[in-house]
Amino acid sequence: MNTLPQSVAIIDFGSQSMHLLANKIRNLGAHSVIVNSNITASELKEKNIAGVIISGGPDSVYLENSLSVDTEIFEMGVPILGVCYGHNLIADYFGGTVQPAKVGEYGKVNLEIKKIDSPIFLVKNIIPENSIAWMTHGDEVSELPNGFEIIASTQDCRIAAMQNTEKNIYGFQYHPELSHSEFGVDMLENFIDICGVSGDWTLNDFINEEVEKIKKQCEGRKVFLLVSGGVDSSVCFALLTKALGRDRVFGCLVDHGMMRLNEATEVTKMLSDAGFDLHTEEASEKFLGNLAGLYDPEKKRNSIGNDFLELQAEIAEKMNLNPNEWLLGQGTIYPDTIESGATKNSEKIKTHHNRVERVQIMIEQGLIIEPIVDLYKDEVRKVGTLLGLSDALISRHPFPGPGLGVRVLCAEKENTLENTEELEQEINQKLEKYIDILKEKISVKILPIKSVGVEGDKRSYKHPVVLYSEKIPVLTAKNLEKLGGIASDIANSISEINRVLISVSGNFISEKFEVKNSQMTKERIATLQKCDAIVRSAIFGREDCKNIWQFPVVLAPVFIDGKEAIILRPIESENAMTAVAAPLSKDVLETIVERIQKEVPEISSIFYDLTGKPPGTIEWE
Ligand code: XMP
Repeated sequence: MNTLPQSVAIIDFGSQSMHLLANKIRNLGAHSVIVNSNITASELKEKNIAGVIISGGPDSVYLENSLSVDTEIFEMGVPILGVCYGHNLIADYFGGTVQPAKVGEYGKVNLEIKKIDSPIFLVKNIIPENSIAWMTHGDEVSELPNGFEIIASTQDCRIAAMQNTEKNIYGFQYHPELSHSEFGVDMLENFIDICGVSGDWTLNDFINEEVEKIKKQCEGRKVFLLVSGGVDSSVCFALLTKALGRDRVFGCLVDHGMMRLNEATEVTKMLSDAGFDLHTEEASEKFLGNLAGLYDPEKKRNSIGNDFLELQAEIAEKMNLNPNEWLLGQGTIYPDTIESGATKNSEKIKTHHNRVERVQIMIEQGLIIEPIVDLYKDEVRKVGTLLGLSDALISRHPFPGPGLGVRVLCAEKENTLENTEELEQEINQKLEKYIDILKEKISVKILPIKSVGVEGDKRSYKHPVVLYSEKIPVLTAKNLEKLGGIASDIANSISEINRVLISVSGNFISEKFEVKNSQMTKERIATLQKCDAIVRSAIFGREDCKNIWQFPVVLAPVFIDGKEAIILRPIESENAMTAVAAPLSKDVLETIVERIQKEVPEISSIFYDLTGKPPGTIEWE
């Protein structure tokens, strides 16, 4: 008899949100395991599987050598749910047709349920006939496989969901695991119910299991933990300390010169108030020196990641720490690994600082400990609370390890981007159909820089477009829903564009933006620090800003009259896997704009980023 708990297996095809399926299933109290796409049906049976979810991924089923699944799995007799690529794989195997979609959908769509009595829409939670679902796909099932029927559609995707109830197999083109899919979790709960699994797994079990694992991995050794003062590294510090005691965890904060204004002092105080001692190492010369002459976002990220490792080794040597007695601790969480392309079938969107190649090698050598690597931010926060950390620490906005290093955009060459008129005209024509929302004349300018985005689990690197209206836009939740829809429409249908901004500085630009050689200098960092501090003080303690999950402020080398641009990027999110632009009340926006215009003479344009994730990412590079 199998003694393992009954689980739902998630077969990993590399989707950016594959692991989130496991997170949602865990939150529903059921045990879940993630398995590689090459697992066999008999291996699955040994794991005591009650149901299978086939994840999404960046591949296309109609390509030669595309990734597949052991087809015996379809005959195991357990309920199966295919999501995105998984949906396409099911269609392909059972004789349907999958091809590039006429219209790729990235972001919010209206999902219309065609078969309200499908068990997946009914068995535990009743799903309404019309709701919002989150899509990110360039392929679609264009013809149903034998024995299947359509159970939901969107305007541009006829077979958005299908089922074969006899075989207990379901397919969703959309992503139920993404928090912006309104009833996604309810549908997953229905699936768990169909599988007949239940459980009482909680994060307290996680803490107990993890403490045992840490003790085992660290037997006879101590941990050198790089702490940024963000939520993840602080929770990691607390968890390691719980398992090993204070004497065996050495916390070190690296001031790489790209922190926020006064951040190092604030973090040290906060952690010391929580009872943790922190060593601080000033290393801005090293980090900034190595960034000189780097412009490409990935090169910058790799330089910063490698400098963290080198510095750790230098400090250890200076302190005479025997390398055989120390492991390197990192507060890595799941989105860091998936975006860095570190799981088997996933694509690299961006290299997070804790996933550079040298870290990957050290992981293989067993030299790294990352106790919260399977968790998402919402779970990390709950673990932090269970460990007794203060609300002030737990509720801090996430801040990336490379700090302002990924928010000061650099540019190598002078560039004005020629021949954009035709494209700008195309976008203008598109905007005509939104005239009732926009209400006034809009002019359009494509910026001569690029930023990173994510489309259908793949990295994009494309131009942003700015919309100018004669009045400062009203960024209420209601307006943003519509403006966000316009942004998705433009980014989804114009292949050169992946972000849409709206000017909030009130000026209507007629001349061209100039790009000049712009590097990572102390002066540019100081300019961004000033703008970032203004933003922080404007939103601090405000009830109407509580929904802002993170607020990156980005310095972009697009010059008018010798002055650069600032991009405001407040977002709402649950776990960083999806995001939407966050509302800003009129007075908060006005305060930010007026203060930047008055106090930061290096800036001329101020933009607000309307783009969701996908097709954008939260950070710009
Ligand atoms: P993106 O920009 O990929 O960011 O949507 C997702 C979340 O991750 C944060 N981020 C990082 N965090 N090291 C980190 O610790 C990094 O290198 C890194 N890059 C992005 C980002 O701020 C957002 O919360």
